[in-house]
Formats: sequence, structure tokens, C-alpha cells
Amino acid sequence: MIIAANFKTNLTRYQTREYFSALENFIHDNGICQEVLVFPSATSLYLHNGKAIMGVQNAYPAVNGAYTGEIGTEQLDEFAIKTILIGHSERRHVLGETQEFIAQKFEFYKNLGYKIVYCIGEPLHVRESGEVKMLDYLNAQLVGIDTKYKDLVIAYEPVWAIGTGLTPTLAEIETLHTILSLTCKTPILYGGSVKAENAKEILALNNVDGILVGSGALKVNDFCSMISDAEKLNK
Ligand code: PGA
Repeated sequence: MIIAANFKTNLTRYQTREYFSALENFIHDNGICQEVLVFPSATSLYLHNGKAIMGVQNAYPAVNGAYTGEIGTEQLDEFAIKTILIGHSERRHVLGETQEFIAQKFEFYKNLGYKIVYCIGEPLHVRESGEVKMLDYLNAQLVGIDTKYKDLVIAYEPVWAIGTGLTPTLAEIETLHTILSLTCKTPILYGGSVKAENAKEILALNNVDGILVGSGALKVNDFCSMISDAEKLNK
């Protein structure tokens, strides 16, 4: 399975180094076979050698250029980063990225062979408007995205579950993942208020191929406990 941590705007460069060091020890000491991805903030990136893969939370679709405040592949190459999060709810809803721009970013990083963790998810009012509208909304977030791309991972993260402590029921997660898996033959992660306490039951669901964890992964011991859960399930 794929167990991923998104630090968002948390942890310093020093704390990130300490985190990776503890994580690598854990993976080594426990013979972990799961795929572990970690997305630190851009200022904490470094050339990491180990089993856990360091990815970037965001980057501009350019090698370099005049894009103030952004980073491009020239900066990512320095740290051998080949994994990127695209379409995260906070990029869509807080930072205003449109589907058109997200699709452009996807195409750019796809053409460079990056592993792409592509996020989709509906706000609460859409969920409350029924399953048909909800699926339409999620499908609209796949417009312009090559769902057959070999290094694509989808993360289903309901917007209302991110950072709120709320989650859909286990049955709701399983149903949605099963529907998505009919069209997307790629690993599908669940994200949104996953923590050490609920990771195991979510990971055990059919068509859940892993988790993408934000605040619940900020303490390395909690993240390691979720990795252990995945390892024990042996899916
Ligand atoms: P959360 O965030 O685990 O803090 O809800 C998940 C995410 O945004 O990827």
C-alpha cells in the first residue's frame, strides 16, 4: 500500500531532517515493504537517500523562469525530487487553482515522468446534494487528467473531512473508492482526518490502496504506527 504524509506549511528544515531520520530507522528496523511518501514544505527539501520517498507539495509547470514565489524543476532536480502532489484541495480552494491550470500542471509533470499524487474531493454542500451531483463534481476534477498515466496515484479527500476531524463512514469511503476504481485503474488513497486511531479500519477497506495524511502525520511516531497498520494488513 501507499502511506503518504503531507506536512503542508508545518515543520522546519531541521524538524524535517529529524523526522526522516526517525522514519528511515523505523522502516529499516521493521523491514517495512509499504511505499512511503512524504511531502515536506518546499524550504525543507533536501537530497534524501533512503526508502521513504520525498515529494513536493507543489511546483510550477516550468523548468525555471519569472514565476515569483514558485519553484520549478530546476530546483526539484537539485534534490532528485520526482514525486509531486497535484490538485490538493487547499491549492484548489484556498489558492484558487483552476481545473484548467491543474490539468496543465499534470501534463507538464506527466511528460517529465513524475509520480503524481492527484487529489480530488467534494465540498460538503456538494455531498449533501446527492450521489449523482457528487460524482459529477468528482468527474469534473478529472477533466484533462490522463487517468491511464502509469505513475498516477489518486487521493480521494473530501474537502469537509480535511483537517476537521470528520470523516465519511467506512461504508461511504468504501463505496466511493469502489466507484472510482471502475474508471481509474490506479491506486486510490483516502485522505481527510486520517490519524493513528482510525487508519487501520480505513486501510482495511476494499479498494482503499493507502492513505494521505496531513495533521495526523506530523508526529513521526503516529505516522510510523499507520505504516505498521498497513504492513500488518498485508493487502
Ligand atoms: P488532514 O489533511 O489529514 O489534516 O485532514 C489531509 C490532506 O489534506 O492531505
